[in-house]
Amino acid sequence: MKGIIMAGGNGTRLLPITGGASKQLLPIYDKPMVYYPLSILMLADIRDILIISTPEDMAHYKRLLGDGSQWGLSIDYAIQSKPQGIAQGFLVGKKFLGSSSVCLVLGDNVFYGPHLESHLIKAKINATKHQVATVFGVEVNNPHQYGVLGFNQFHQAVSIEEKPNTPPSNIAVAGLYFYPNSVIQMAAKIPFSKRGELEITTVNQQYLSDNALDVVQLSKSFTWLDTGSPESLLEASQFIHTIEKRKRSKVACLEEIAFKKGWITKSDVLMAAKKMNRTPYGQYLINNYL
Ligand code: G1P
Repeated sequence: MKGIIMAGGNGTRLLPITGGASKQLLPIYDKPMVYYPLSILMLADIRDILIISTPEDMAHYKRLLGDGSQWGLSIDYAIQSKPQGIAQGFLVGKKFLGSSSVCLVLGDNVFYGPHLESHLIKAKINATKHQVATVFGVEVNNPHQYGVLGFNQFHQAVSIEEKPNTPPSNIAVAGLYFYPNSVIQMAAKIPFSKRGELEITTVNQQYLSDNALDVVQLSKSFTWLDTGSPESLLEASQFIHTIEKRKRSKVACLEEIAFKKGWITKSDVLMAAKKMNRTPYGQYLINNYL
């Protein structure tokens, strides 16, 4: 399985912060936002990763992440020239994906909670072995801002709507999706929506009607953070700060994940740490790996 991170968009909901910087490079407490979705792919044991961004921002991602070898990854880059939807990622990434299945994660989504790795591995098996796609549902207060799931009396998902005026439930679809390779053909077939995008929700509706979509509802103890507004960006930083301080561990510490997976050595970790020895991120690595 290969991974795609969508790191484009105009970031209009965060202006003027995003006037000169890509949203997914902004900090969530002590690290760039894109580290969080990247850590999700790594936890799912996905090492071939494509970053999709705008022509203007691409150089910054390359500077930050390089070829990924410092974490035992292989990172490629591709440009989405206009923000024409999440599902366009599969078309932009067609060559990169080849015949692989794919996990696509949005560059501004942060996930933190119990059983994360087992959810990821199960979704991966669904896609690679059973040709079944997986989406994750999370209870939210403001469902009309998201893709929203509708359920029947047996609590089975029966519909998905994008930003509905009257949401059928308060369960939103998070920005983390697993698909078999057939998603490339699927994305090529769907029409542009009214807002001029190839909607990921249309793709998910298709898998749902084909009886090939697993909807995993994340528990209330699971945190899915939105980073779309100045306030939610601040809250995300505060949340990560609190968790890291209380648990005396780091969320989305890429060197740590890569080391635990056996993709890099202890001396690789320390080499990275020494360059960052004046920050809490670097200090954490030095304290734990020296
Ligand atoms: C997108 C998707 C939506 C999903 C959300 C998760 O929304 O279209 O279905 O629930 O991401 O973050 P957008 O970021 O385009 O508002």
